[in-house]
Amino acid sequence: MPKKYELPPLPYKYNALEPYISEKIMQFHHDRHHAGYVNGANAALEKLEKARAGQLQVDIRAVLRDYSFNVDGHKLHSLFWPNMAPPGKGGGKPGGAVADLIQKSFSDFDKFKTQFSDAAKQVEGSGWALLLYEPELDELVLTQVEKQNFMHLAELPILLGLDVWEHAYYIDYGPDRAKYVENWWNVVNWSDVESRLSKARR
Ligand SMILES: [Fe+2]
Repeated sequence: MPKKYELPPLPYKYNALEPYISEKIMQFHHDRHHAGYVNGANAALEKLEKARAGQLQVDIRAVLRDYSFNVDGHKLHSLFWPNMAPPGKGGGKPGGAVADLIQKSFSDFDKFKTQFSDAAKQVEGSGWALLLYEPELDELVLTQVEKQNFMHLAELPILLGLDVWEHAYYIDYGPDRAKYVENWWNVVNWSDVESRLSKARR
């Protein structure tokens, strides 16, 4: 049996990010949406396997698109959960290497925060704002991802991501994405960002 994708457990309780992200959002987001991407990726792989065995006719373009959509969803959410931590543990400002590199790349933390927030607020429809490490420059760069399909920046390690799909905030914030983005900074797990940066630089 080929290896299957698995839904990783949340690194904290469903209500751990309250009052900024509710228990209900976290339950739906993790147990339904993320699980759906895991199942979708496994189903696409199974279709490809059956096609190779001659048991199924597939539209290869459709199945591969389906596969990358679901795998990207799975990987982004697997990053998103540990990118956050309960208020008190998360939030505030980063220290160490992340702070130094933010300073180098964006001149100061508030300028970085504003630009990252703008990127998140202005994603057209569903998608993500991401902070990536660009090894060629030894700098941090931003990108927007529409839905969750990667383009040419896929090879750059992602350090921090913010999900702005409606399923990530609508129950708590309705159409006020800006308020969600603003409050999300209270649960950013900078020590996770730090360990991703040191891994990316190795
Ligand atoms: Fe999501």
